[in-house]
Amino acid sequence: MGGTPTARLTVPRGSVVVLIGPAGSGKSTLAARLFPSVAVLSSDTLRARIGKGEADQTVTGAAFAALHRALETRLTARQTTIIDATSLAPAARSALLKRARAHDATAVAIVLDLPPDIVLARNAGRAGRVVPEPAVRRQLAMLRAVTDPVLAAEGFAIVQRLRSDADLAALRIEDLVT
Ligand code: CTP
Ligand code: MG
Repeated sequence: MGGTPTARLTVPRGSVVVLIGPAGSGKSTLAARLFPSVAVLSSDTLRARIGKGEADQTVTGAAFAALHRALETRLTARQTTIIDATSLAPAARSALLKRARAHDATAVAIVLDLPPDIVLARNAGRAGRVVPEPAVRRQLAMLRAVTDPVLAAEGFAIVQRLRSDADLAALRIEDLVT
């Protein structure tokens, strides 16, 4: 009955930390606990800034372009940066990895691999933006393809997979320099 031991994740200076998980898996909540907000680039926050709100899918292209511009600026200054987007599509990850490689930045993946029922319930129970359930189910299916070996082969040097709320709560970041 020792519970989940604390997982300590060392994030080298100037890293790109990619949160990977469906809508409702807790990416933004985790980012807010572990990282200063200035270091977090959120696709939803950029959608809200550019479009009509966090759920405005019509500005997805512009929001990701803005996210990549901001990432480029931060990596040039060797500032560790956290990407808060689903990043379930291989193309989304490869675009981030390409930018990390160009700056010799360490790529870190944090996979929010929670039980589907919890993710669906959290998404449905959200006060503000609820993503349509079929979309979340598609994202959960995509997540199954995002295995540790796949991420390692893509170029992530460090992969941390979180499978429960206890795992989420137990995660600590060491030596963070943003
Ligand atoms: N939540 C929770 N307990 C956690 C983590 C999250 O109850 N340990 C709740 C949050 O309060 C929120 C919902 O679950 O109401 C979804 O969490 P959020 O961090 O917003 O998920 P994201 O992965 O950021 O979802 P999205 O991709 O849609 O932004
Ligand atoms: Mg979020």
